[in-house]
Amino acid sequence: MNVIKKLWMLALLVAVPTAALANSEVHLDKAPVNLQDQASLQRGAKLFTSRCLACHSASYMRYNRLRDLGFVEADIKKELSLPEDVKLGSTMQAAMDSNSAKLAFGVAPPDLSVISRSRSPDWIYTYLRTFYVDSSRPSGWNNTTFPNVGMPFALSDLQGSQALEVEKHGEHDIKKLVMQTPGTMNQAEYDKTVGDLVNYLVYMGEPAKLVRSQIGWWVLAFLSLLLVLVYALKREIWKDIH
Ligand code: HEC
Repeated sequence: MNVIKKLWMLALLVAVPTAALANSEVHLDKAPVNLQDQASLQRGAKLFTSRCLACHSASYMRYNRLRDLGFVEADIKKELSLPEDVKLGSTMQAAMDSNSAKLAFGVAPPDLSVISRSRSPDWIYTYLRTFYVDSSRPSGWNNTTFPNVGMPFALSDLQGSQALEVEKHGEHDIKKLVMQTPGTMNQAEYDKTVGDLVNYLVYMGEPAKLVRSQIGWWVLAFLSLLLVLVYALKREIWKDIH
């Protein structure tokens, strides 16, 4: 087999599965992740503990680690409205135990510590914005990003309830989500709120990243200072030789 033929085979092997994947995937919106935005991370942490911890745990995350986000340790309980008996050194555990949750929803809610790495931030951002009312589902909710999901829509009071409309265009169905009953937020506010939540989930997936990027700036500042000093030294040494 000549080289050109081999290259063609290789290109086909790569292209065919990629094309197939691209077809079956849903469109994902870009999540506004910014780990430098401390206010957004704090809002996300509050939302996570008040809205998601009822069912999901975050077993790799301790409450007192939230100092990373600029919370003062003594204020963490008050800021996050945690019950008095929660220990700040303990990991974030779901209020509902996994067995009862499985009975209630048919599936146990997965731990969300590293969800931003197993699903992408864009996936979670899209998922939390694509719930719609579906009376054929036990929870009353369905989702275009995660069809037949077992999770009831925990943010419906904020976003409101959407309905799915399917338009027939020849062979293709075009699916559209249409707002039926608005929630307490308009779309821009809700998108921003979900953005904060996803930002927090990304932080939680790798808390050390925050500290690492802070150290990075100090290293750069140190190297710049060193450059100035070394240059001055070089001029001093060579002054008499020229
Ligand atoms: C009432 C319980 C409940 C609450 C509250 C809840 N979830 Fe869920 N969640 C579930 C269950 C059950 C599943 C599993 C669904 C399935 O696999 O069909 C799930 C699945 C998920 C998934 C998909 C996980 C995967 O990769 O399969 C994500 C992401 C998620 N939840 C995020 C959240 C976030 C963020 C919040 C807070 C805004 C939240 N959930 C609140 C019950 C809940």
